[in-house]
Amino acid sequence: MPHFKQNFRNLSYANITTAPVMLVTGSAKRIGAAIIKRAHEKGYRVIIHCHHSQQQAKALATTLNKKRDNSAAVIVADLTLVNDSQTLSQFTQTVIETFGQLDILVHNASRFYPTPIGGIENTQWDELFLTNAKAPLLLSQAFLPYLKAQQGCIISLLDIHADNKPFSNYAVYNMAKAAHRTMVQSLALDMAPHVRVNGVAPGVNILPEADSDQALDSTQQQYIVDSIPMQRIGAPEDIAHSVLYLVEASYVTGQIITVDGGRSLTLAGGYN
Ligand SMILES: NC(=O)c1ccc[n+]([C@@H]2O[C@H](COP(=O)([O-])OP(=O)(O)OC[C@H]3O[C@@H](n4cnc5c(N)ncnc54)[C@H](OP(=O)(O)O)[C@@H]3O)[C@@H](O)[C@H]2O)c1
Repeated sequence: MPHFKQNFRNLSYANITTAPVMLVTGSAKRIGAAIIKRAHEKGYRVIIHCHHSQQQAKALATTLNKKRDNSAAVIVADLTLVNDSQTLSQFTQTVIETFGQLDILVHNASRFYPTPIGGIENTQWDELFLTNAKAPLLLSQAFLPYLKAQQGCIISLLDIHADNKPFSNYAVYNMAKAAHRTMVQSLALDMAPHVRVNGVAPGVNILPEADSDQALDSTQQQYIVDSIPMQRIGAPEDIAHSVLYLVEASYVTGQIITVDGGRSLTLAGGYN
């Protein structure tokens, strides 16, 4: 059985428009949802992919479909599906059949947690590399024919810690994002001139959810704000703005835009 299902409101193939179609992985909430909303404001049709956050995804699609009928769909899937070629193929078909095409693929889904040295486990490696490196590569490969047909593009959500400034105690996450960063540059070469591939590297653009095990207390939050030249935590919309710039930048490929309020300028690596 496939690990995913389609779930959308009032989708009628008779009403398909010519608007570009964007798929954002892990986009029920937070940065992914901001990208979806921004693309929808620009008139795109959007596919909200989620795994556990089905209620938020459905609510978002309902809101967007009220603004423009048949413009938003939800697809539920655990990205472990990339480990099975047949399931990956079924997922690819489900995405394409949703609106009949795919123009923009955004790799946003991610797992993020510390892996202190001495306690790193295979399951952590598998999970952190799956979401932050392997799935982006195999999804990019699977969707290439469809993106090529549209002269489309791929945009990856990376991290300022993926580039010479590793985050202390997060070795596996840092390594996975670094692999993803290299994927952007490799695929930009391998997919040119048909498909452009770029990345956006956030700094601290939305804090971990307050009820999560990654939540930060007010002292930790103030410490972060003090380290950011722009003197504020970024907003998901700041990332969405750069993603949409890259969608429209027809002569830009293989580039990574840092969107961190200047934080990477102050990082010495380690605990900063
Ligand atoms: N937040 C920041 O300030 C920041 C900083 C640096 C980099 N980034 C990068 O920017 C992107 C967005 O950040 P974020 O904080 O908004 O992301 P996030 O909330 O940590 O994760 C986004 C979504 O990824 C999905 N996901 C995780 N594992 C999955 C799996 N196995 N299968 C399917 N979906 C899975 C989850 O979907 P469900 O909830 O539906 O399960 C989750 O909602 C990420 O790539 C992140 O690494 C963010």
